[in-house]
Amino acid sequence: MGKKINIAIDGYSSSGKSSLARSISKEFKMKYIDTGAMYRSITYLLLKNSIDSSNFEESEKKIEQIINDCNIEYNYNNKKNISETILNGARCDEHIRKNYVSEFVSIVSKSKKVRDFMIAKQKEIASNKNIVMDGRDIGTVVIPDAEIKFFIEADLHVRAKRRFEQAQDESLTFNEVVENLKFRDNQDMMRENSPLKKAKDSIVLNNTNINFEELKNQAFNIIRKKNENHN
Ligand code: C5P
Repeated sequence: MGKKINIAIDGYSSSGKSSLARSISKEFKMKYIDTGAMYRSITYLLLKNSIDSSNFEESEKKIEQIINDCNIEYNYNNKKNISETILNGARCDEHIRKNYVSEFVSIVSKSKKVRDFMIAKQKEIASNKNIVMDGRDIGTVVIPDAEIKFFIEADLHVRAKRRFEQAQDESLTFNEVVENLKFRDNQDMMRENSPLKKAKDSIVLNNTNINFEELKNQAFNIIRKKNENHN
């Protein structure tokens, strides 16, 4: 690759954003940043500090302190093709995908304090270029000047099926997955601070009736074209 570009990927929960971001990272040798994991790790940290949906609103001061004191690092392990989240020195990836985190994460993500903290970190990472970053506000707020912006859509039941098959919680039912995705999409779209929406210049890829290979090919072709014109 010649001149370095950034790629922003946004979309609904479980639409296939992170699988696509991972394969772009591998194919084009770009660094992958999973911002959902960042919000999930903060959520996990708050839960560990006894902050949950019942006391979230009134715990603002404590939340600020927890965020300021915490040390979060994100690595992408190219060998294993996974992102690793290190929270105050310890890996926490096995916890952040659990259902109790999924149920609370979109509430935590509404907080302006949490978002300001995360967005500043994400902007700093993106300033190094050659980043593929996925989330909800990447093309609109975090990297509005990204050379390529994808917005991934897929039918709710197709997304729920995908999430259900990947779920690490054996007690989880399909209906609970559907309800969680609906809840999170709704919270993410309706919030005041950097809501989920399509950037005007984003390329929409709909993942409902195509398999992952086809989605990947569509995205790769767009990236190759962009790289040719960008050199
Ligand atoms: O991508 P993932 O489903 O792991 O994201 C978990 C949650 O984190 C989302 O439901 C959303 O509430 C929040 N999020 C966000 N902004 C981002 C990435 C994730 O609000 N850029």
